[in-house]
Amino acid sequence: MGAPPLRFAVTALDATDSTQSEVQRLAAAGAPEGTVVTARHQRAGRGRRGHQWWDRPGESLLASVLLRPEGSAGSVPQLSLVGGLAGAEALAEAAAVPVRIRWPNDLLVEDKKVCGILAEAASDGSGRPTHVILGIGINLNQTAFPESLAERATSLRLLTGCVQDADRILAALLGHLGQRYAAWRSGGFAALRSAWLERSMLPGQVVRLPDGGVGEGVDVGDDGVLLARGRDGCVARVLSGAAAEEGTAHAARH
Ligand code: BTN
Repeated sequence: MGAPPLRFAVTALDATDSTQSEVQRLAAAGAPEGTVVTARHQRAGRGRRGHQWWDRPGESLLASVLLRPEGSAGSVPQLSLVGGLAGAEALAEAAAVPVRIRWPNDLLVEDKKVCGILAEAASDGSGRPTHVILGIGINLNQTAFPESLAERATSLRLLTGCVQDADRILAALLGHLGQRYAAWRSGGFAALRSAWLERSMLPGQVVRLPDGGVGEGVDVGDDGVLLARGRDGCVARVLSGAAAEEGTAHAARH
């Protein structure tokens, strides 16, 4: 029998520095898996690769989910893919938009980003994560973006013409995440790989390589590792990079 779906307990805040930091504080105090914090506004929202995640109050779904997976640090990048798949399924179901996943986990519609996902992991130094915090930022009701984002970002409101209800989108997101996480716990990324590939734009996508150059995405393995073709024409396995997370001894972002 597969693992039971996660039970989520949601705390909704008006404003915070970052829901990632809120959940990190709760995790350190022993909060259980399935703890979720949302906010209408973040003063210091974090994106991948050290970027800021900007929002105007009340326009976005900003959520962080605490996971306590069993297994090695190698499972952390896989969870960022699990989050991307669940997000894509939720937006397709709840807003009927044709979402594609850009490696590793940006969600795009009509080539513009509508959702970003950040997986931050903490470990006790044994190589095994003590917890993973999946942060999800969905552009819900923006009707315009600052000039620096306007070319690259869109919102569900702009795509559908309809005002979006954050609670409804959150419910869809957590429903899909619960199911996909349960499948991942029983069968690993292999159990989700074909569903992930169906939603992804990976083959042919320009991807960042560890040497700082770019390559062409080819495939993803059963272990969630990217296969990419470099400038020399050879296909190599590319592991996600790692960077330190605030306040923890060993951590990785994906
Ligand atoms: C990305 O760079 O694409 C990832 C963006 C992740 C943003 C979300 S919003 C909720 C959670 N809290 C944060 O500070 N970041 C994540």
